[in-house]
Amino acid sequence: MASVTLQGLSKVYDGSAKPSLDHLDLEISDGEFLVLVGPSGCGKSTALKLIGGLEDPSGGDVFIGEQRVTDFESRDRDIAMVFQSYALYPHMSVFDNIAFPLQIAKVDKAEISKRVQSVAETLHLTAFLNQRPGRLSGGQRQRVAMGRAIIRQPSVFLMDEPLSNLDAKLRVKMRSEIAQIQRRLDVTTIYVTHDQVEAMTMGDRVAIMREGVLQQVATPDDLYRKPANTFVASFIGSPPMNLFRASLSGTGDKQVTLGDQTLTIAPESIEAYPGISAHTGEVVLGIRPEDIEDADLSPDTRAGDTITAEIAHLESLGADHMVHLALEAEQVHVGDQPQDQVETPLGPTSGGLCICRFSPRSKARSGDRVRARIATDNLHFFDPATGGALNQ
Ligand SMILES: Nc1ncnc2c1ncn2[C@@H]1O[C@H](COP(=O)(O)OP(=O)(O)OP(=O)(O)O)[C@@H](O)[C@H]1O
Ligand SMILES: [Mg+2]
Repeated sequence: MASVTLQGLSKVYDGSAKPSLDHLDLEISDGEFLVLVGPSGCGKSTALKLIGGLEDPSGGDVFIGEQRVTDFESRDRDIAMVFQSYALYPHMSVFDNIAFPLQIAKVDKAEISKRVQSVAETLHLTAFLNQRPGRLSGGQRQRVAMGRAIIRQPSVFLMDEPLSNLDAKLRVKMRSEIAQIQRRLDVTTIYVTHDQVEAMTMGDRVAIMREGVLQQVATPDDLYRKPANTFVASFIGSPPMNLFRASLSGTGDKQVTLGDQTLTIAPESIEAYPGISAHTGEVVLGIRPEDIEDADLSPDTRAGDTITAEIAHLESLGADHMVHLALEAEQVHVGDQPQDQVETPLGPTSGGLCICRFSPRSKARSGDRVRARIATDNLHFFDPATGGALNQ
């Protein structure tokens, strides 16, 4: 077991104008489960390949424990990798597939047998050891690939979207199994996914990347509660945080005006975003869908914590009603790439849609004009020029 330290790790592929990985600094502690997440092409696999020694960096260093391994061959790094395409040997039994790394290393036969049995028990594969992989389900095959990785008892696991070939239900099952196995083995793990739910449920910490650049690394809870910028704010959470251009006013009591509606900001939001206390003028206001409720269901609403708007569209999901409120305010869209943050190309009278997660007890229907109660103690504020959180 060991920590992994990345210092200024960069990669510019031959013939490429810009870096696929741009000065990544990251410390993953011994036994930690770190998830690397971000949209397609943001450099996740590149980072993993550099750590595993499958690609050479253009700059920066990789340390495993105290040791600088930047120039080490992949096989000398004491790392095991599991990829999306798990490439089992079809003509070999499950036993031999799992045992393969030990057979290569010329480990004693009795020892191999003991370790394969133990790994098979951990992964619930004992009953399949004599079968060929072709007769296994997707999830079972994925576990065989895991078995082949963990049998060597490496210092570090690298996993690149290992569940993306599985159907949705199996993915949910396997993600908790992998998380449990990792905790039991206590091996430092770096796990790549583009799925924010997978990231949030599996990681001790989650590192979010965009265009080769690390945006934020934090616990799932901190990412959700204190996103560093509008990109992280809209990447984490489903449906994503609503982002609107708004303006701040007031000195002691602070207000935020969103189109033709004004909210009074609760002290908790000012504490979380101290940058707003001295700030007046334009901001990007963030409101999570789960922080908006039908005001008719909240007996203690005040004037400063409600907005009134028409329901443009309502989706009933059983446990929730997803309500799309038409607001006379300019919506901010954050795309995968920094240049995608564009102003909505709509006239000044057109507005945006604010998604709210209403309780199914709400009687509101599509086309109704409703009062919605906003949790003003959980508002988020960002700089409209940079997208950075006003939390300093
Ligand atoms: N061998 C290569 N040669 C040139 N460019 C590459 C190479 N591999 C990756 N890239 C580029 O580097 C960028 C990052 O790619 P990478 O595979 O790391 O992204 P990713 O985050 O893993 O995406 P995905 O979620 O789609 O797997 C992309 O723009 C990609 O086109
Ligand atoms: Mg990838």
